[in-house]
Amino acid sequence: MRLKNCYKTEDFRKLAKRRLPSPIFHYIDGGADDEVTLRRNSESFDTCDLVPNVLAGHDKVDTTVQVLGQRLSFPLFMAPTAMQRLFHHEGERALAKAADKLGTMFGVSTIGTLSIEELGAYTDAAKFFQIYVHHDPAMTSDLINRCKEAKFDALALTVDAIVAGNRERDYITGMTTPPKLTPRSLLSFALHQGWTLNYLLRERFELPNIAKYLKEGSAAHSSVLQYLDTHLKRSIDWDDAAQMVEEWGGPFAIKGVMSVDDARRCVDVGASAIMVSNHGGRQLDGSRSPFDQLDAIVDAVGGQIEIILDGGVRRGTHVLKALAKGATACSGGRMYLYALAGAGSAGVERAMSLLKAEIERDMILMGCRSLSELKPSMLASRC
Ligand code: FNR
Ligand code: LAC
Repeated sequence: MRLKNCYKTEDFRKLAKRRLPSPIFHYIDGGADDEVTLRRNSESFDTCDLVPNVLAGHDKVDTTVQVLGQRLSFPLFMAPTAMQRLFHHEGERALAKAADKLGTMFGVSTIGTLSIEELGAYTDAAKFFQIYVHHDPAMTSDLINRCKEAKFDALALTVDAIVAGNRERDYITGMTTPPKLTPRSLLSFALHQGWTLNYLLRERFELPNIAKYLKEGSAAHSSVLQYLDTHLKRSIDWDDAAQMVEEWGGPFAIKGVMSVDDARRCVDVGASAIMVSNHGGRQLDGSRSPFDQLDAIVDAVGGQIEIILDGGVRRGTHVLKALAKGATACSGGRMYLYALAGAGSAGVERAMSLLKAEIERDMILMGCRSLSELKPSMLASRC
């Protein structure tokens, strides 16, 4: 599989699988427990069909959308993900380049691999910072101030990962960061020399957003799962969220909301958007898929807050289906992560531009001139 032969997420996945040592590939690819939710996130898009209108009499489509204070040229953006320079040495820079070129937005994780300050200076592309709330409240305020200084456009508070999901693939492969050479992982690193040489010879792997707050810095070998379990505040509540909304004072998303009651609380605390998400099936297995839950969320809070469907998106038609149900926009992780791992910025740009082209083509085929013309009546349930 070569980049020029990659057309769909599964193609980029194969590319990533070939290039990455197995602990790293499975960290991206895997989910929690039996991965029921991971699979359902994508499969749920097949529970209904698009019903197009023809002879619409126009030859242009407008796929732009306003979300989190940004005008995007198409309604799909890159969700925040941890450890990106572990996947490819370009890391977050690859996302910044693709977002800039294609007119979309990218999220930067608290457990990201380039600092808030470096990214602020590196790119004018639309970007938001994703916050994990740690035990020390001063750390949250400091991160918020750093994002203001670096002119980040928005903030997202992730609320569905206060403990680590049960990711059995990571236990089996012995995934740690930075990677630890164990007899089990050694063979895999030796067999993936391209990745291993890059890792050893490029800039040192760090987690610069959090290093300064932790006494061990980011150098200690630990797993991401241990990190979440040790350092995150489990008792975070709606008052904490409200305080952060106020402290930030700009576009604010709450990421990982699934229930109708919680969606209403997001409106109450003054958030500008909810990301309907189960963390890509990596946390609570058996939880509902964002697409399955979308109708209930739209019924409850549609028109009062932006609704972002996050997770499972692998095709342009998935985005159209979510928007027809009433979502404002969609976001995803693996749709660009496999491409990042497989081919750096060229990969991310190819994966995201293919999805952008699919969305534009599918809008024409649906007979829609603008995203607001996508309506629930254009979806038919299969059962
Ligand atoms: C994630 N995700 C995530 N979310 C978050 O808020 N902070 C983070 O640091 C990470 N890290 C992370 C790493 C990896 C490897 C993956 C795959 C995912 C979740 C991410 O933002 C998004 O919710 C899911 O990826 C959506 O599911 P899909 O699009 O991958 O199916
Ligand atoms: C993950 C965390 C870091 O999903 O959000 O791996």
